[in-house]
Amino acid sequence: MIRMCLWLLVGVWLWWGWLAPAWAVQLDAATRTVPLNDKGDMVTLSLQEVQRGKRLFNAKCATCHAGGITKTNPAVGLDPESLALATPPRNNIEALVDYMKNPTSYDGLTSIAEIHPSIASADIYPKMRDLTEDDLYAIAGHILIQPKIRGVQWGGGKVHY
Ligand code: HEC
Repeated sequence: MIRMCLWLLVGVWLWWGWLAPAWAVQLDAATRTVPLNDKGDMVTLSLQEVQRGKRLFNAKCATCHAGGITKTNPAVGLDPESLALATPPRNNIEALVDYMKNPTSYDGLTSIAEIHPSIASADIYPKMRDLTEDDLYAIAGHILIQPKIRGVQWGGGKVHY
């Protein structure tokens, strides 16, 4: 009996090993292409960058932003509409990387680095200490790709408020 359970475990593990990469491949180049800046330039993330972005977002941001919402402030989510209407608009990679370095209030007027995790406030937010420029790029990419995969479900939580 125990032996059978073990084989079952091995089977499930092998199955996942085969399935997970197959799933990643389904993210075609069009899905992985997002705005780079506010000038209209686009960039296509590699599959590795997509995976890295997902892993890092889950580790560093998901406590507050799981599913693209903002738990403590549902009015300012990570959905495309909220990002586009921020000042400056945050719906591109460079603007999101800038936010992670020095976040500002939604109107862009004041730095909120002391209350939002960032590189500028890495001394108070140790999770932000080891992030490289490539890491920030990958996290930004993850935020922009999610609505293309999940549709309104990404950040859609706030619709219910
Ligand atoms: C401790 C909770 C918390 C964590 C962790 C957190 N955030 Fe936030 N985030 C917030 C809050 C609260 C706001 C709303 C700030 C405001 O009032 O403008 C916000 C806003 C944002 C915005 C602005 C959204 C918009 O529509 O303009 C971005 C972008 C963002 N966060 C990205 C991130 C990223 C990337 C990470 C991980 C590196 C992260 N956040 C980690 C709480 C958090």
